[in-house]
Amino acid sequence: MLWLPHTRAERAMTIRRATVGDAPEIARVYVDSWRETYAGLLPDSYLAGLSYEAFERHWRRTFLARGWAFVAEVDGRIVGLASGGRARQRQLAAGELFVLYVLRRHQRRGIGRALFDASRLELAVRGLASTVVWVLAANPARGFYEHLGGVEMAENELQVAGVRVREVAYVWPD
Ligand SMILES: CC(C)(COP(=O)(O)OP(=O)(O)OC[C@H]1O[C@@H](n2cnc3c(N)ncnc32)[C@H](O)[C@@H]1OP(=O)(O)O)[C@@H](O)C(=O)NCCC(=O)NCCS
Repeated sequence: MLWLPHTRAERAMTIRRATVGDAPEIARVYVDSWRETYAGLLPDSYLAGLSYEAFERHWRRTFLARGWAFVAEVDGRIVGLASGGRARQRQLAAGELFVLYVLRRHQRRGIGRALFDASRLELAVRGLASTVVWVLAANPARGFYEHLGGVEMAENELQVAGVRVREVAYVWPD
């Protein structure tokens, strides 16, 4: 478990592996983060229709059953999460970070970087050291990935909730 000391205005934060018992809280953070992140980028009706229960089932079946995930906690409450695995497009990188979200009120305190570092280490331990992340081209999180040394290597267009969006891939070599 990683522990980061708190500064004057902040509380202690921990990064730990997620367990199946975390599924309800993970679903809450995931859905709330999607609503915060994609407001204005994806249709309001789509975001409003996201269901905690559906995402909880999804997480139980996928990352928590067959993969791995890390959560960040502040005062015992989950405020961020990350998960990854084998990259979908092996020509870009061996590993992929599928999920990285920090609730808005907890951003810019080092939590995203801590989750990112833990995930990259996990991928490396699993023999997937090079890492790719796909991010919507209009998402300001691109600045975070650039700040952490990711190199823009590819782009793609896809349909999400009936809207055509562009996404870009950032890559970290071995
Ligand atoms: C992207 C995200 C995970 C970053 O998490 P965070 O906890 O705010 O980031 P950190 O505080 O760990 O920042 C680490 C460094 O990146 C910088 N940084 C953070 N967000 C940045 C941004 N949008 N643009 C440029 N730099 C950024 C910080 O200033 C910090 O720099 P420093 O360590 O040199 O001082 C978070 O903003 C988030 O969850 N966004 C919404 C969800 C999202 O878009 N996820 C990605 C989907 S692909």
